[in-house]
Amino acid sequence: MIISKDINQALKILQNGGLIGLPTETVYGLGADALNINAVSKIFSAKGRPADHPLIVHIGSAEEMIFWAENIPDEAWILAKYFWPGPMTLILNKKSHVPDIVTGGQNTIGLRVPNHPMALELLKKFGGGIAAPSANRFTKVSPTTAQHVANDLKESVDIILDGGTCEVGIESTIIDLSSKNISILRPGVVTSENLKKVLGFDVPLATKSQIKVPGQHEVHYSPQAKIILAQESEIPVLTDQLNKQNLKNIKVWSSDKNNLNEMAKELYQQFRNADETKLDVLIVIPPPNSGIGIAINDRLRRAAKNL
Ligand code: TXA
Ligand code: MG
Repeated sequence: MIISKDINQALKILQNGGLIGLPTETVYGLGADALNINAVSKIFSAKGRPADHPLIVHIGSAEEMIFWAENIPDEAWILAKYFWPGPMTLILNKKSHVPDIVTGGQNTIGLRVPNHPMALELLKKFGGGIAAPSANRFTKVSPTTAQHVANDLKESVDIILDGGTCEVGIESTIIDLSSKNISILRPGVVTSENLKKVLGFDVPLATKSQIKVPGQHEVHYSPQAKIILAQESEIPVLTDQLNKQNLKNIKVWSSDKNNLNEMAKELYQQFRNADETKLDVLIVIPPPNSGIGIAINDRLRRAAKNL
């Protein structure tokens, strides 16, 4: 495994069926040629991910949607126009030539044009789709630097393109457009307010029972340290209680409520630091539950569940 900025070298590895660490604006992906079944199967073993979990296919432009998807509704083109390249994944009905391994056997496919100059250049040169889940081991925290990918996946990835620290820091908003009931499967920094502005109607957040695919409601994004969500005023009593349970190495992370972009960007780094500094407990003061706060709280709740 090498960490590099050499896009042409990554391109060669991709074309030869290898695995690449792919920088995007959200989190790093673990990428392979989406039409090479053998290459895609390596993603599942490197991550330790169950085979029925569908992958997102990253493409270089909105026009490429028609290669992968059929019955594309107008809403998809509108969303693509406003939010691509960007932190938004569209779930559409797949074309029959798309390999089952990419979609986990679903008849739908997730597509995204990432907004990162290295990813876009690589996609342009490659010309095809790059299947890429987040480049972490299954159920662990998504990576936001090249070094995180190296720490997690070691020799199971051939090259990691170093594109710096991810600007967004949490995974893309996933929008299901595969039926008439358009819904948000995973909240992200493209918020329901953003969607309403361009579509003209409310897009509801899917409830647990509506989500047909795995990967969105198990314990995810979890560090080793306990994550506890608490309000500022609760912290003295909580700290006392934890100390009595012999949990002494405690940190409180409160971020600027007026800068939730920054909080999203830092979130997974905080989780990783918690483990590196062997914290017993990371107490997080959650942001208000609106706008980007909804996506941050979604990740915080999942992390906090793993007690
Ligand atoms: O920001 C992101 O989306 C990052 C970067 C690398 O693009 N990728 C990412 O991938 O978060 P992953 O595999 O960790 O999460 C993708 C989610 C999974 O929860 C999966 O279930 C869902 O997307 N997904 C993919 N294809 C789907 C489909 N056809 N139908 C429903 N959900 C799908
Ligand atoms: Mg993931």
